[in-house]
Amino acid sequence: MRKDGRANNMIRPIKITKNYLKYPEGSALIELGETKVICSVTVEDKVPPFLKGHGTGWITAEYSMLPRANEVRKVRDSVKGKIDGRSHEIQRLIGRALRSAVDLKKIGERTLWIDCDVIQADGGTRVASIIGAFVAVYLSLAKLTLKESPIKDFVAAISVGMVDAVPMIDLNYDEDSKAEVDMNFVITGKGEFVEIQGTGESRSFTQDEFEKMKNLAIKGVEKIIELQKKVLGSSE
Ligand code: CDP
Repeated sequence: MRKDGRANNMIRPIKITKNYLKYPEGSALIELGETKVICSVTVEDKVPPFLKGHGTGWITAEYSMLPRANEVRKVRDSVKGKIDGRSHEIQRLIGRALRSAVDLKKIGERTLWIDCDVIQADGGTRVASIIGAFVAVYLSLAKLTLKESPIKDFVAAISVGMVDAVPMIDLNYDEDSKAEVDMNFVITGKGEFVEIQGTGESRSFTQDEFEKMKNLAIKGVEKIIELQKKVLGSSE
């Protein structure tokens, strides 16, 4: 049993509040246990220079954490004058994940700016960002009058890891900080992989452990995508 009473294959409760903000074309607040992220999408009618005239669109993401998203206050990037490496890595992951779900040719010469802002961090902020960003992107695209839906497939993500030699899904901060192995899986609705980040933090891991973590992630993402579909299908 885990500290919060979950079984090893159980994800924390997920709550997605769509259209959370008034101004963006699409937005969602995602709560994954105690982790909370606001995802918003801005649709801009132009593309970066390298895509100009190609008739295709672009999706890019930015990720940030509020100072008191953590137990101790973190200095704002704007005060430090630079984005930290971790944020950079995470925002590129979010961008790649969402580009895999959308047919960029079908959105025309537009850019979707995804902003993921962590207001409370308790592990899994990057996967929560991807889950919420998909919902916000979907909502923003529904507002455009396009001939065909540009959504190729749903996409979601979840963390898994080895904690005290036990494979488990959706690590909270407490578990993440003592995990021997830490992985993040980005998986589509068809069950195909978009990205796998896996690190032996304090030791290497076996192929058998990898299989177990992978299977936990596949099942977990299936459930999350069911929830995304439910949230997007409801009229509230
Ligand atoms: O957030 P995520 O699990 O995607 O990424 P991580 O880099 O593995 O960080 C794990 C957790 O450490 C975060 O979710 C936060 O709870 C915590 N953290 C923190 O408290 N302060 C930071 N500057 C970075 C991470």
